[in-house]
Amino acid sequence: MLVVDLDLSGRGAVETARHALAPHRRAGTPSLFLLRDSSAHCLMQANALGARETLPADAPPALLLDTVGAMLGLMGEAGEGARIERHFVAASAALADLLDAAGSGGRLPITAINDSIEALNRAADGGDLNAWLDMVWRHDDATYQHCLLVSGIAAAFAQRLGFREADRRLITGAAVLHDVGKARIPLDILHKPGRLTAAEWEVVQRHPQIGHDMLVAEGGFDPMVLAVALSHHEHLDGSGYPHGLRGAQIPDPVRMITICDIYAALIERRAYKQPMPPEEAYAVLVEMQGKLDRDLVRVFGDVVLAGSIARLGRYRASAPGRGVGKVA
Ligand SMILES: [Fe+2]
Ligand SMILES: [Fe+2]
Repeated sequence: MLVVDLDLSGRGAVETARHALAPHRRAGTPSLFLLRDSSAHCLMQANALGARETLPADAPPALLLDTVGAMLGLMGEAGEGARIERHFVAASAALADLLDAAGSGGRLPITAINDSIEALNRAADGGDLNAWLDMVWRHDDATYQHCLLVSGIAAAFAQRLGFREADRRLITGAAVLHDVGKARIPLDILHKPGRLTAAEWEVVQRHPQIGHDMLVAEGGFDPMVLAVALSHHEHLDGSGYPHGLRGAQIPDPVRMITICDIYAALIERRAYKQPMPPEEAYAVLVEMQGKLDRDLVRVFGDVVLAGSIARLGRYRASAPGRGVGKVA
């Protein structure tokens, strides 16, 4: 493992560290970062550099040793959890690189995107989505959490559908990039707790077109990845945005990511809202009749409920009708 004690406030230091730590990120080496300040920016930088755990730089020595001990103990585990954890660290560091580049207007890091796709698909091989979700909850940056959730769920969905490797890469890659346009939406709108004004909502609704245009400008992306970025908020009955597409105008991979995206938004954890339990979130999808692909929603239930279908039946019998909030 690595213990990293660096001042991450300067761009030069971050770039040097990013370069020096790249091989360790790819290898999934667990790193403990000591943070000089507790700002969201500093935490984001540490995540981008591959932090698995963070501590304040002035943490008491006993806490530091306990954390190192726990991380070393974890490394000794050869079980499924440790395997998924290794992929999780590699994927989350690569996604942080992507979000960082997209937000700052830099070129999209193709290597990082490919690394994250590979790590996500290998993590999904074992079919244990819950282990992935447990790790996602450790990250409290909202955009980052959403990205890890949608892509982890999409990777599991593609695995469940028995896609061949090339198609799994396509679906997972599309999920990784689906909200890349959000990197250009002001954070105070994106992270606003509570209801958006009509004007703010209009700004948020621009992210599919922005993301699509970013990917086109970058070049080299599969047309399906572009379609997912542009159309993941479209609904089969024409009620979605930005173009109000209907039925056959929406290809299957887009339909898949739309399902993953809505589900992820429902189960996300925020300081200001309780996460929705899986059964309840899945029931919302089932009730979105006419908007989502019914067959895909059915298979999706196997992915996210893993055996609790019976409980869902009980929930649906007792729950009153629920409105569906707008999901950005
Ligand atoms: Fe979106
Ligand atoms: Fe999304």
